[in-house]
Amino acid sequence: MLILSPSILAADFSVLGKQIKEVQEAGAQYLHVDVMDGSFVPSISFGMPLISSIRGTSDIIFDVHLMIASPERYIEEFAKCGADIITFHLEAVRDPGVVIDKIHALGKKAGISIKPATPIEAVLPYLGELDMLLVMTVEPGFGGQAYIPESTERIRQARKFVEERGLSTDIQVDGGITADNVHVVLEAGANVIVAGSAIFRGDIGQNVKDMLKSFEAF
Ligand code: DX5
Ligand code: ZN
Repeated sequence: MLILSPSILAADFSVLGKQIKEVQEAGAQYLHVDVMDGSFVPSISFGMPLISSIRGTSDIIFDVHLMIASPERYIEEFAKCGADIITFHLEAVRDPGVVIDKIHALGKKAGISIKPATPIEAVLPYLGELDMLLVMTVEPGFGGQAYIPESTERIRQARKFVEERGLSTDIQVDGGITADNVHVVLEAGANVIVAGSAIFRGDIGQNVKDMLKSFEAF
């Protein structure tokens, strides 16, 4: 199943609740929530209080992308404040298996994200336990960057690994995805598409509909 996960990092936070409603009504299935700590990545975004407050306004699936150091310290809190899917970075933990188990024990879906320079093979020992693999298509840390072309081959590789093992792991892509290049990542095998600027700049509802329309060919 193809899923659109608009990233609120590009939203207008003064009218965040309204914009979330807009993406959901236009058909987006997930909401991508980028948490940055100024340590694992250079920038700082937001944390639990914001997630809790938007949780009260929407029942859309919260796809929480943790770009933070030692994410294992905060899994309970993110589960409690409303995350449905919790994705942490492979590069940020010592024992990814333990973190996955922690997320599952809280009844949430678990994802691992890898930066553009991390080989896909590094995730193979955990693939069978994962609900989602996030292949970053830009260097994590900021919205509005350009898609890294080498990502296409990495997505293809990730899809191949999932299929060879007979798994149903979702493959998510995040960074620089627009209506103009989304067909490239879909063709390569991604099925959960994150988009920030391409959704929240201009007519939000229309942007969601246009993106979902491009899904129809796949
Ligand atoms: C980047 C974040 C992305 C970001 C995507 O570090 O993980 O989710 O919001 O933004 P765009 O779609 O504008 O590249
Ligand atoms: Zn993200």
